[in-house]
Amino acid sequence: MRRDLRVAADSPLSHFPPSLRPEAYSAMRNLLLQLDSSRLPSVFDQVVAYDGGAEQIMSYGGVTPEDVRDLVHGCIFTRGPKDLRHTAVWIGGNNMSQGEQLLAMAQDAMFHPLTVSVMLDSNGSNTTAVAAVVKVEQTLGNLKGRKVLILGGTGPVGQRAAGLLAKDGAHVTITSRKPEQGEKARQFINARFEVPVEAKTLSDPSTVGELLDGVEVLVNSGAAGIQMVAHKAWAGHPTLKVAVDLNAVPPLGIEGVEVQDAGEVRHGVTVFGAFGVGNFKTKLHKRCIGRLFERNDQVLDAETIADIAREMVKKK
Ligand SMILES: NC(=O)c1ccc[n+]([C@@H]2O[C@H](COP(=O)([O-])OP(=O)(O)OC[C@H]3O[C@@H](n4cnc5c(N)ncnc54)[C@H](OP(=O)(O)O)[C@@H]3O)[C@@H](O)[C@H]2O)c1
Repeated sequence: MRRDLRVAADSPLSHFPPSLRPEAYSAMRNLLLQLDSSRLPSVFDQVVAYDGGAEQIMSYGGVTPEDVRDLVHGCIFTRGPKDLRHTAVWIGGNNMSQGEQLLAMAQDAMFHPLTVSVMLDSNGSNTTAVAAVVKVEQTLGNLKGRKVLILGGTGPVGQRAAGLLAKDGAHVTITSRKPEQGEKARQFINARFEVPVEAKTLSDPSTVGELLDGVEVLVNSGAAGIQMVAHKAWAGHPTLKVAVDLNAVPPLGIEGVEVQDAGEVRHGVTVFGAFGVGNFKTKLHKRCIGRLFERNDQVLDAETIADIAREMVKKK
């Protein structure tokens, strides 16, 4: 958080703006190193980082795994161990697997006690998936044994939602238009989260009803602007309890679920639209930034971000 830089009205410093007074420079400011795998570092991530408590952001775009070591060494060798919590690393960009490589390199470049906290949220995938999962958890409580269908589950958001819901004990199936892509994502989720999930092929969205048998939770994490489920496929479905649509771009992903829906009950199903999830996602994103500056040894990835989100909803 910003420090209080007020000075007495009669101080000789009072005619300087706060940012130019000496104490502004002597204070240990919260510095965020933004490592973005995309050419242009995300402005969205920068704005939320400032809102979350970063006081200065050092942004790098087009970052490759080979770049990471020296950039991270710039963080860990500049401040003493007790002050390192005021420096943190943010990893973003459009490509999740590149983000994961950057995270691995950043962790590899640090050693005790010279560590700084680091967070991975390529394309908002972790915070979005976690926000959706926590909405489902809040609605249904225990997810053990419940059938979950995740449409477009091969993307970064769907994969992380699948891993977290399977860790909750749900029987998760992801869909893809292509069998080999579904299988690759299934194996990736299995290895990353150490949980089994299933993959099914859904090449024609009009046949989605065939996959809904016994499903209690439906999550659409398909690409923006693609309708994946027609109204008649889910409305009044005998087993469906929760439907979450993460696509905010018309046409929406689940016909009849509105973008602002945040727990409304429609046709017997509790529904969440992209903004209904996204509002919590943004709060969570900010909270995670604040957390980065509390200690110098945290790695915020899907599971740890989920723990923070669950704490947030418990405190409400
Ligand atoms: N609410 C929020 O705060 C928030 C934040 C971030 C993202 N989002 C939204 O969350 C959703 C998931 O994000 P993401 O980055 O994981 O998505 P993504 O990678 O763009 O797409 C997810 C999957 O959708 C499938 N897909 C792509 N084009 C398709 C098409 N024309 N028809 C049918 N399926 C298609 C692909 O799977 P296959 O090729 O395997 O079929 C792809 O892996 C998106 O709608 C995104 O806009 C929301």
